[in-house]
Amino acid sequence: MKRALLTGASSGIGAALARELSRRGYALALLARRGDLLRELANELPETVAIECDVADAASVKDAVEKAGGVFDLVVANAGVGIHTPAFKFNVADAETMVRVNILGMIYLFDATIPKMIGFGKPKSQAPTATTTPRPKLMTVTIAT
Ligand SMILES: NC(=O)c1ccc[n+]([C@@H]2O[C@H](COP(=O)([O-])OP(=O)(O)OC[C@H]3O[C@@H](n4cnc5c(N)ncnc54)[C@H](OP(=O)(O)O)[C@@H]3O)[C@@H](O)[C@H]2O)c1
Repeated sequence: MKRALLTGASSGIGAALARELSRRGYALALLARRGDLLRELANELPETVAIECDVADAASVKDAVEKAGGVFDLVVANAGVGIHTPAFKFNVADAETMVRVNILGMIYLFDATIPKMIGFGKPKSQAPTATTTPRPKLMTVTIAT
């Protein structure tokens, strides 16, 4: 059975992706901070575990990947925040949150999982289309991250 690890699985795109991957026969490790939502979803899906994790914290990511155990065929760095901020409300705190979650979170995840995937095929990465779509208003920092 193929195994997938998915961050940001407690809501939105991540929860929908978890259902779809499960339908396609994957065993799943679902990561996010809201453990109650994760456990609810994991109870619905076969061969699925819920693991609380803050992707902005490298130690939390390493610990969650250890708990998930084994080797993964697919790792999805879906956890993210998109804070809609018009230029006149620009603030460093929001920008830092997005950098921590959207950039460092992905780096911590790949650092913890790629060594487990090497030797089981070539790791490949796929970037979201948002990175190539111009959005001049509201989401400059989100798109940059
Ligand atoms: N919806 C769109 O139209 C759209 C378009 C382009 C890009 N995106 C991006 O796609 C991703 C998912 O979007 P969505 O609409 O599904 O958003 P969402 O419903 O808000 O889901 C975001 C997910 O990320 C998780 N997350 C956020 N911060 C986290 C952290 N520090 N550690 C672990 N998990 C964290 C949340 O879980 P917890 O809160 O439980 O931790 C949640 O499961 C985001 O990166 C978003 O910016 C969305």
